[in-house]
Amino acid sequence: MEFDPRINAQRVTAYADLRAVLADPVTFSSRNMTGPQVAAVAALLPPEQRRLLELMSSLNAADGTRHARIRAAANQKFTPSAVRQMADSIRSRARRLLDELPEEADFVSEFAAPFALGVVGDVLGVPEPDFPLFREFVAPVLELTSGEEVSERVLGSYFAAMHEFCAYFGRSNAFKGGQLSEQERLSLCLAIVVAGTDSTTNLLSSTLLRLDHRERRLGGVVEEVVRLDAPFIGFFRTATCPVTMAGVKIAEGEHLFLDYAAGNRDPRVFTEDFDPGRPSVPAHLGFGYGPHYCLGAGLARLEGRIVAEELLDRSFEVVEQPVRHRKHLISHGPAELRFRPGRRPT
Ligand code: HEM
Repeated sequence: MEFDPRINAQRVTAYADLRAVLADPVTFSSRNMTGPQVAAVAALLPPEQRRLLELMSSLNAADGTRHARIRAAANQKFTPSAVRQMADSIRSRARRLLDELPEEADFVSEFAAPFALGVVGDVLGVPEPDFPLFREFVAPVLELTSGEEVSERVLGSYFAAMHEFCAYFGRSNAFKGGQLSEQERLSLCLAIVVAGTDSTTNLLSSTLLRLDHRERRLGGVVEEVVRLDAPFIGFFRTATCPVTMAGVKIAEGEHLFLDYAAGNRDPRVFTEDFDPGRPSVPAHLGFGYGPHYCLGAGLARLEGRIVAEELLDRSFEVVEQPVRHRKHLISHGPAELRFRPGRRPT
C-alpha cells in the first residue's frame, strides 16, 4: 500500500488487503467512492448544484442500512431469474446490431456502446427511440470522474446533462412505488445507466480482442477479461476512524483507492496468464466484493457470453491496429477497435 499524491489516496494493491477493506464497510465507507476530487468539489457548491452532484451517490455511495434498503429495491431487476428472462432479447439485439453493421466498422462505438445502452434501456423500461439520449447522460459523468482536474466546462456539462436526466427519469416509472425517496430513485437509475453501459462496453470490446475461434469455454473467457482487462479499474473508500492496514497508519477521513486491477494480478494469488479454464476460486475482484459487489454481474456475464457466441458464429476479424485505451482513472477499455463482423451462416 502506498500513498499516491496524484489521486490524494492510499493505493491498495494486494489481494488480501483489498479483501480486508471490502469486508469491513464500517471502517471503510463508500461515501466518496468516486474519489476525493469530486467530494472536494461538492463541498463548494450551493445546495441545488450539490444535489445534482449527489445524484452520483446513492446505492454505490451509501453505507449500512441505507445501502441495504436501496440495494433491496434495485435487486428486483437483477435476480437470476429476471436476468435469465432477458437472454432472448439480448441475443436478438446482438444479432440485429451485428447484422446491420457495414463490412468494416468500429466495434466500440458502432456495436458495444449501443448494445450495452439498449440492454440497460430495457432494464429501466426506456423506449428504443430514447436510447441515444442515454449517451448524453453517461459521457459527462465519465468526464467528471476521469481523475483529471474538474474544470468549469466539465462541471457545466455535467449539470446540464443532469437537468435533462432528472426531467427524463422524473417521468419514468423505474423503481417507483417502493421505499426510495425521489432523489434516491433518480440516483439509482443514474448508477445503473452509467455502471451498466460503460463497464459493459469495455467488457465486450476487450472480449473481442481475446476471442479465439477454437475456444469453447466462453464463460471462462468473459471471467478472465473481467479479471485481467479490468473494465473498471477500482473505486475509493474513506476511513471512518484511525486504522492501521498492512503496517500503514491511516487517519480518519483519509481516502483509499481500491485497485482491483492490481489485486487481480497479485502473484501471491493469481497468474498473469489469460486462462479461461482457471478455477473460480479464489474469486477475482473485477466485480468488487462484499456488500457493494456488482449488482449487474450476472447480467454482464450473460451479455458477454451471448456476444461472444454471436461473434464466434460469424467469421469475424479484428483489423490489425495498435489498441489505444481511453484515459480514465476508473473505467478501462479500448477507445476504438476496427473489425469486420463477417456474416452468420444461413
Ligand atoms: C463487465 C461489466 C461490469 C463490471 C466490471 C462491473 C464492476 C463493478 C464493480 C467493481 C463494482 C463495485 C464498486 C465498489 O466496490 O464500490 C460494481 C458495482 C455496481 N455495478 Fe457493476 N460492473 C459491471 C457491469 C454492471 C452492469 C451491467 C450493471 C447494471 C446494469 C452494473 C451495476 C452496478 C451497480 C448499480 C453497482 C453498485 C452496487 C452497490 O453499491 O451495491 N454493473 N460494478
